[in-house]
Amino acid sequence: MRQAGRYLPEYRRVRERFSFLDLCRNSEAAAEVTVTSARRIGADAAIVFADILLPLVPMGVGLHFEAGEGPCIERPVRDTAAVAALQPVDVRDALAFVGESVRLCRAELGEALPVIGFAGAPFTVGSYAIEGGSSRTFVTTKTFMYAQPAAWDDLMTRIATVTIEYLRMQIDNGAAAVQLFDSWVGCLSPADYERYALPHVRRIVDAIRPSAPIIYFGTMTSGLLPQLRATGADVIGLDWRVDLKDAWDALGGDVAVQGNLDPVRLLGDAQGVRDAARDILTRVGARPGHIFNLGHGVLPSTPVDNVLALIEAVHEYRHD
Ligand code: CP3
Repeated sequence: MRQAGRYLPEYRRVRERFSFLDLCRNSEAAAEVTVTSARRIGADAAIVFADILLPLVPMGVGLHFEAGEGPCIERPVRDTAAVAALQPVDVRDALAFVGESVRLCRAELGEALPVIGFAGAPFTVGSYAIEGGSSRTFVTTKTFMYAQPAAWDDLMTRIATVTIEYLRMQIDNGAAAVQLFDSWVGCLSPADYERYALPHVRRIVDAIRPSAPIIYFGTMTSGLLPQLRATGADVIGLDWRVDLKDAWDALGGDVAVQGNLDPVRLLGDAQGVRDAARDILTRVGARPGHIFNLGHGVLPSTPVDNVLALIEAVHEYRHD
């Protein structure tokens, strides 16, 4: 997660020439940072360089990124009229550059490294559209959800419709698997998840699963494990706040899991990184169906050497 990001000097050099959004829109440059980053750290897959908020641009809300402040939505969506005013999106036209980035990555990497495509899940993308940017409490999002349930369902349905086409386009261009990021859905109660988020995630999973495996990721989801399982996703991505084995037992045997190293571990010394990796792999044991990953994105201040130490350790221990 954030495989190509500010922790890598190679990425920062390319970013000097492009704004973040321009880099996403320039398929050659986006593919270059994807491929360079995956090769540089020795990962087993490359995740295409793009962003979960890109589909909001053709929907018409206005998006820019402010240095140090993250995403900013210029016209937040807070009522029925604003939802109704969202534009339908011809994904293969408006977001063709992401399909092209996937295609270029695939052409460069061939069979050597699979390319992972991704999108944001409706709750998490919708939270940015409603809040106007990042949030800690999601008060505006949840107030909208409770007070205007019909408008909420309309918004979620529209985002899910675009997301399905967006993921299909990435699969058609060579993505071997896709990840659906629902980073902030852990702020919902189980009952609210079932009412307000699950139907839309299920719709996406049902539409995508026939063509590619789908990984569903969220943070702070320890209270939602039965609901995560009910999405039908092939793989559930977990953050570090849960014990991997306990969460996996609760999810059940026929689902794979991804995770779940605390990214802050990578800010310590290399031996601590190796120990933490071994600890997770010990919890997994011989059980098949685990994808090693961080529990959330690489932090910009992460030393590259620690990422290399982590990947080396995972590759070494998994053969034990
Ligand atoms: O992992 C990868 O290399 C793939 C690329 C990727 C990015 N964003 C690039 C990016 C992926 C998979 C994402 C997903 C994403 N984007 C999520 C879900 C995962 C998560 O972190 O929870 C979310 C919530 C977003 C929205 C977003 N994009 C935010 C909140 C920010 C600001 C974050 C920050 O640290 O400044 C971004 C910008 C962003 N997306 C960067 C990158 C590499 C940093 C851009 C830069 O300044 O160069």
